[in-house]
Amino acid sequence: MKVTTVKEFSKRKVSDCLIIPFFGNKYPKIACSCKIPEEWKIPIECLDFSGKEKQTVFVYAKDSKEKRILLLGLGKKEEISKESIRKSFASAVLQCKQKKIEKISIVFPSEIKEENVFSNILEGVYLSNYTYLKFKKNVHSLKSLEIIGVEKNLKLIKKNMILSSGVSLARDLVNGNADEITPEKLKEVAEEFKKISPKIKVSVFDKKRIEKEGMDLLLAVNKGSCTEPYFIMVDYKPDKLDDKTVLIGKGITYDTGGLCLKSPESMDTMKTDMSGAACVLGTIYVCAMLGLKKNITAIVPATENSIGSKSYKPGDVYFSYSKKSVEIVNTDAEGRLILADAISYAVKKLKPKRIIDIATLTGAVKIALGEEIAGVFSNSKDVWEKLKKSSENTGENIWRMPLFKEYKTSLRSEIADIKNIGGKAAGFITSALFLQEFVEDIQWAHIDIGGTSYYKKPKGYHPTPATGYGVRLLVDFLENL
Ligand code: BES
Ligand code: ZN
Ligand code: ZN
Repeated sequence: MKVTTVKEFSKRKVSDCLIIPFFGNKYPKIACSCKIPEEWKIPIECLDFSGKEKQTVFVYAKDSKEKRILLLGLGKKEEISKESIRKSFASAVLQCKQKKIEKISIVFPSEIKEENVFSNILEGVYLSNYTYLKFKKNVHSLKSLEIIGVEKNLKLIKKNMILSSGVSLARDLVNGNADEITPEKLKEVAEEFKKISPKIKVSVFDKKRIEKEGMDLLLAVNKGSCTEPYFIMVDYKPDKLDDKTVLIGKGITYDTGGLCLKSPESMDTMKTDMSGAACVLGTIYVCAMLGLKKNITAIVPATENSIGSKSYKPGDVYFSYSKKSVEIVNTDAEGRLILADAISYAVKKLKPKRIIDIATLTGAVKIALGEEIAGVFSNSKDVWEKLKKSSENTGENIWRMPLFKEYKTSLRSEIADIKNIGGKAAGFITSALFLQEFVEDIQWAHIDIGGTSYYKKPKGYHPTPATGYGVRLLVDFLENL
């Protein structure tokens, strides 16, 4: 989508729809600089439009530059927030997309004193303009947007375009069929990043190398699959300083549950089990495109969790990269196994300042926090507080959960150092306690996106299924380090 700006209302280009934002039912000053056609006032006179947040009413007029305008409610001025701006403009875009409109213009709501309004509008528009065209052809998206009443800000336009293309990349990867988005495909996507910048290095361990390294948990999960596992690392190093952040994304390209097979009702969304991987790839793509001066390594342990005669079995014991032995009690708790190997590798070989892993680790997080809040566990107040700030900036909600160490007893095994699941109670917490066993003394946060990574129905600026959750959160976090 092409974005342009124009300072004066009278110099605007004709579009298919002019969007006018409202607080209450008064036309913004800038629109009053021209004579307002009588038709534009009708929805207000009939009390059909009061300017409530996300409210939209189309109006048609013969004697105006645009035949069609859209009145858009932004809610009460004192209740406006970054997120309410994103959501209101997204609701306008969705209305326009339904009408197959291609060119829109937006009157900038200059009465809002909030920072970043321009960016928040662009985010709302870009994120809701996403379409996944592969499986459903009759979907439309906007081709151009003109924002009226602002100075040119090419830097912000470019930044938001890059950010949204990172989110789209993550969404595309999650939306693709599991047979297309295989571990090998994730490897190829990562390898493409070399073209962005000479500061990017990509290293990939194939199965042979994974065996040599001793990542036996990743290999165990892969045993039932006919596709090879890959251990993918994207290193972005623009800075000589040794402050490095490692991002680790769960890359289970399909989760059948393995021999502890999932039921059909819980399996139909499991192509999204690589949403963590998609998120870290989207994040490092954005950081490199923006030329962020932060050292980052994104790691994706990638495999399917399939079922077959060679599948790993409950009751068996495998060694992790860190040489801790793990008793497999449930083959459906596979995410923590591949993350454990990735975390241990990062701790031992990369020695980062902090590690953040992001994963569709449990279904329990969705039961506890729903679709709009991710659960975060962290051993560091500093990392947590920075993530919280970024969450407020981006509207990607998080909630801190306890690493309650007393619950570690449920992970005790009679035959190995640790079991891969605790009991039924607090499974969401014991999954994080399991990961913590591999973190050592590095600052760390684990983000469980089992609830936020996909929606069965579109909501706000999110399409269905993939939301691309986490890209904006992590980019903002890295920017503010
Ligand atoms: N990928 C799932 C978690 C998941 C479920 C994410 C639903 C998104 C939606 C994970 O590998 C899994 O199966 N976890 C089990 C753990 C259990 C066996 C201890 C779960 O949450 O049921
Ligand atoms: Zn599973
Ligand atoms: Zn899984």
